[in-house]
Amino acid sequence: MSQWTPTIALDESSTRPLAARIADSITRDIRRGRLAPGALLPGSRTLAATLGVHRNTVLAAYEALRAEGWIESESARSTRVAASLPERPRPSRGAAARAQIPERTHFALGPAPDIVERSVARGVIALYGGMPELGIFPVEAFARAHRRALRTKRSQLLDYATPYGHPALRTALAEMTSSLRGLAAKPENILVTRGSQQALDLVARALFDEGGVIAVESMGYAPAWAAFRAAGARIVALPVDREGLDVAALEALCEREAVRAVYVTPHHQYPTTVTLSATRRLALLALAKQRRLCVIEDDYDHEFHYEGRPVLPLASADSDGSVVYIATLSKLLAPGLRTGFVVAPRALIDHLAARRTYVDRQGDLTVEAALAELIEDGVVARHARRARKTYLERRDVFAQALAEQAGDALRFDVTRGGMALWARVEGEKGSEPLIARALDEGVFVQRTRSMCFDGRDRPFVRLGFAGSTPAVLREAARRLGRAARRG
Ligand SMILES: Cc1ncc(COP(=O)(O)O)c(C=O)c1O
Repeated sequence: MSQWTPTIALDESSTRPLAARIADSITRDIRRGRLAPGALLPGSRTLAATLGVHRNTVLAAYEALRAEGWIESESARSTRVAASLPERPRPSRGAAARAQIPERTHFALGPAPDIVERSVARGVIALYGGMPELGIFPVEAFARAHRRALRTKRSQLLDYATPYGHPALRTALAEMTSSLRGLAAKPENILVTRGSQQALDLVARALFDEGGVIAVESMGYAPAWAAFRAAGARIVALPVDREGLDVAALEALCEREAVRAVYVTPHHQYPTTVTLSATRRLALLALAKQRRLCVIEDDYDHEFHYEGRPVLPLASADSDGSVVYIATLSKLLAPGLRTGFVVAPRALIDHLAARRTYVDRQGDLTVEAALAELIEDGVVARHARRARKTYLERRDVFAQALAEQAGDALRFDVTRGGMALWARVEGEKGSEPLIARALDEGVFVQRTRSMCFDGRDRPFVRLGFAGSTPAVLREAARRLGRAARRG
């Protein structure tokens, strides 16, 4: 039952005596369902004061309602809507007759973009491609830091504040990206956002206010495409192969059209997991310089590279101001923190911060202060080491179990980094039949067609391993094996 004392408003158009108008207003709200049986009504003194009438007027209204059986009083202080209402008269037409907000708007509305619902039935193993293990999130340390921040800096954290992000977090992220990712970032080069999705949205709007073309990977991250589209960009998809984005195709596109930006996932291409080759990196940076292209680099799971030499972001080799680097703590820590960041030349950071003011004004500064403390204290570095070790073990367990169970039906390279395997469905034209059979067997796999710009299915599946324990992964592999053999 609601803990709110309902507001009672008078019908200004009525010419009936005041007490009757108060009673009418309450019965109307009971009839339309706004006041439910048992709901507490305001005390007579309070209601009289709110409506600016004499208390006796309210008492007369309540008395009339009580006599008709609409309300009941246990004591002078507790007047409620009757638990069992008198027989309801047929509701009249018009506003008073509506029991609830209409299902649809009365005005025209265009189609809404698709929302990806993330719910699966009980017992189904969901192999989401980018889900981290929340069981190892440093809950205690985070809760302590959050509480400490609120207690010691409430007037700073709960007020309207900077759209750039908490200064301590900007500093901590600048140090982290400089040390680990080679970016030479200063705090003023950082904008803290609500996840990388907000970063993508802000960058897209900054670039495509007046339209323009953006190139993307033909197999890629649909939420980014949605942000570019919403900002007014025209999207051209370019091929992806075992070396990542086809940079020669981008060059050819630039010959034909005025391309303003390119969106890439060079570290672990989404969804195929391949790393953009060194030659293509150089070519892309050179092309960006020559054509004044904006390179939007989405480095969503940087920490999780298991083999080979560390690969630094494109942004670390950019001395011209071509690359806008977008990263997130969704994979490193947890998606629910909604914390991402942009690293870019200061002029762009200022531009994005100004725009952000009109979107959500500022981030959750308490969360940001807590995260800054966890980074400074080394908790995040320790967590990153632990998560990397955990996911490496899971990758190996899953890759081996899948190879045993699915045999030749699913072919894959053991990914050198990231949180998912990209497997080819052998002998098939697409992935949908396998994905459907897998769900029958109790494994949810994201639809491949949602990762393909042309919306057409391909014979590949992206199988996330980071968020499931080794035992669950073995079971998932058994189920996938059965699904694959049933084909
Ligand atoms: C390519 C890519 N970019 C970014 C993200 C993270 O988005 P966010 O930071 O909004 O949680 C994901 C998560 O799935 C992703 O796959």
